[in-house]
Amino acid sequence: MLLAHSTWKEVEAYLARSRGVVIPLGSTEQHGPIGKIGTDAQTAESVAHGLGARIDALVGPTLAIGVAQFNLGFPGTVSVRATTLMALIEDYVLSLARQGFERFYFINGHGGNIAPARAVFQDIYSGWSLGTRPGNAPRCRLRSWWEYPEANRLRHELYGAGEGMHATPSEIAITQHVDARMVDVARAGADAAPPVLPVEFIRDHGGDNHWDARTHRAAFPDGRVGSDSALARPEHGRALLEASITGAIDDYRAFLAEP
Ligand code: NI
Repeated sequence: MLLAHSTWKEVEAYLARSRGVVIPLGSTEQHGPIGKIGTDAQTAESVAHGLGARIDALVGPTLAIGVAQFNLGFPGTVSVRATTLMALIEDYVLSLARQGFERFYFINGHGGNIAPARAVFQDIYSGWSLGTRPGNAPRCRLRSWWEYPEANRLRHELYGAGEGMHATPSEIAITQHVDARMVDVARAGADAAPPVLPVEFIRDHGGDNHWDARTHRAAFPDGRVGSDSALARPEHGRALLEASITGAIDDYRAFLAEP
């Protein structure tokens, strides 16, 4: 059930049977030579919409622009500051909390969103902890689509070290499954595998904790960060998406069932 396609009467009726809402969270940034700029929004949205099609869950509008300042050296990238994303998430949650929603389940497609989202969840709870907001505090959870155990196992089995950190074959495979044009794009532009990332780099820059845009483009001239994007296949994407949807359904249900 998509919020944007529902009437307010339908949302009111939904609230009588559930207090949960699912929100896709993405990014609009370069994804290497064969990855679309909307990869992170499309992967998160595909998982969320797949969940919403199978169980009685309301899926809110996708937040498609995230924190990606390090990719601004590549044409097409649009980034918001961390504080802007935090304000947007806060207003999104408080709008729906006012109407009775209590459990907010974010399905994320972009590493750079994780720290700001978790930080603003704490700020949202503060409104209740400090006694300035009435009633029950909402609860927020964020999961990235690749975290679900079967999806995580599958991407490492399929790609090993070639999975890398950005423009990963797993995320591109999902977009190839959802959008056949991306298969043609990949065929036309296969690139050699980039160097494997040193463990120290992964330690220091996990969660897209990268430097500024000029430094980033100099270090990763074609936009891939240790990822062999050319390994992506649409049939992998179908399996990865299925694993993520299944994992998300179980995890969302457990979140709603928490006392
Ligand atoms: Ni991505």
